Amino acid sequence: MSNIERTLSIVKPDAVERNLQEEIKKNFIENGFSIINEKKIQISKSEAEEFYKVHQSKPFYGELCNYLSSGPIVVMILEKQNAVIDNRKLMGATDPSKADEGTLRKKYGISIDKNSVHGSDSVENAKIEIDFFFSS
Ligand code: CDP
Ligand code: MG
Repeated sequence: MSNIERTLSIVKPDAVERNLQEEIKKNFIENGFSIINEKKIQISKSEAEEFYKVHQSKPFYGELCNYLSSGPIVVMILEKQNAVIDNRKLMGATDPSKADEGTLRKKYGISIDKNSVHGSDSVENAKIEIDFFFSS
């Protein structure tokens, strides 16, 4: 079967702080994703700035980078057919208050900035983001 893709998932500091990573991983497995690799790390502010550089002109960029580097995160490579779009659907809307029932951000997100998970938004960006965290 073609269309097997990989995408990058991040369990963000608010969710790791509440020790939700195993429960979030269960959601991925139940929805058909394989977890190819994972690690718990903490990144520096400059690494967060590099990771989120697409947002550097946005008003929330500084806070976003402070936040992603504020505590441990769990980064994962997820694989399945149509992994990128299916993970975006599973995550739900960026703002948890607008996310559909059953989505990860609805279930676990606290606010638009503390929305518990990141997922790549395209196959091209997934490759870049996976390399960012997992190229040795
Ligand atoms: O994460 P997603 O792709 O859904 O959203 P984005 O537009 O790429 O924004 C990246 C992250 O910035 C979001 O997940 C939010 O945590 C944060 N953000 C924010 O704090 N305030 C906004 N108005 C928009 C996004
Ligand atoms: Mg995004």
